[in-house]
Amino acid sequence: MQATAIAQPNIALIKYWGKRDVDRNLPAVGSISITLSELYTQVTVELSGDLASDELIVNGEESQSMLPRISRCLDSLIGDTRARARVTSHSNFPIAAGLASSASAFAATTVAAAGAANLSYDTEALARLAGLASGSAARSFYGGIVELKNTGDTISLTSLSERDVWPLQVVVAITETAPKATGSTAAMEISRETSPFYSSWIERQDQDLDVARAAILRRDFRGLAAVAEHNCLKMHSVMWASRPPMMYWNSATMRCMQTVRRLQAEGCNVFFTIDAGPQVKAVCLPADTERVSEALVATPGVRKIMTSVLGPAARLVLQT
Ligand code: DP6
Repeated sequence: MQATAIAQPNIALIKYWGKRDVDRNLPAVGSISITLSELYTQVTVELSGDLASDELIVNGEESQSMLPRISRCLDSLIGDTRARARVTSHSNFPIAAGLASSASAFAATTVAAAGAANLSYDTEALARLAGLASGSAARSFYGGIVELKNTGDTISLTSLSERDVWPLQVVVAITETAPKATGSTAAMEISRETSPFYSSWIERQDQDLDVARAAILRRDFRGLAAVAEHNCLKMHSVMWASRPPMMYWNSATMRCMQTVRRLQAEGCNVFFTIDAGPQVKAVCLPADTERVSEALVATPGVRKIMTSVLGPAARLVLQT
């Protein structure tokens, strides 16, 4: 009754920000994301009648804060009369810092738990279950580029491009490794309740999704770059105009954006995107990755960079 799964985090190019239904964690908008290869979370779920309660160990340390969400995730998958679980998670990148660690963690937990309980679900059904725990986790069930659609009462997922068809690359500039002050779940609700820009953000999302989807299908890098940066800055405008304001950037975040602007002016195929954290993800074509990495590593305030090609879907690696 033990299984191990690996999932990669994904980075949204057209962002999910806002919930239509908080209890069922249904997103208010669709989103498009890319799954990253070099970053990963590995999760082992052990179900045992000997355990009195669920246990969660994250990167070698017991974690109480995430435990209720993990327990709920296991309940929705296996049922609440299940055996208790020991969940051990390891990520090779900073967690809770705007690098989509909840996406890879919940995707891997869902796959490992289904494996440990010997349950077989199809990919979309598993993705929906992971999405109950964390909206972005549903997208890590697909490699390459994926679209999550908000279809009324549920979500649906479609692969827009396999990872080798349009081999985009990503340079992640890490400017801070400490966990963020406000997690996405709470921050989205603050935006919905207080940001004067929230309703127009929701209204315009389908337009951005259409433009991005069309650009991806014809592999138009510049077209995708323009709509992805616009969508990212719009999401951050919603956050900045919330009360209290949510300002996830630091001065190095701004400097990285300026570096990307300079590279663009020099003809480089690159664009930036930023999530609920201060890290900058520079998406580029393979021919420009080295130049983008060199420029970002030399940007003051950047602590580390991680370079990645597009990654595979969440998967089971061991079942005993
Ligand atoms: C800014 O998926 O972490 O990264 O559903 O509440 O767990 P919950 O939110 P989460 O939000 C991700 C927000 C984002 C944008 C995105 O990934 O689309």
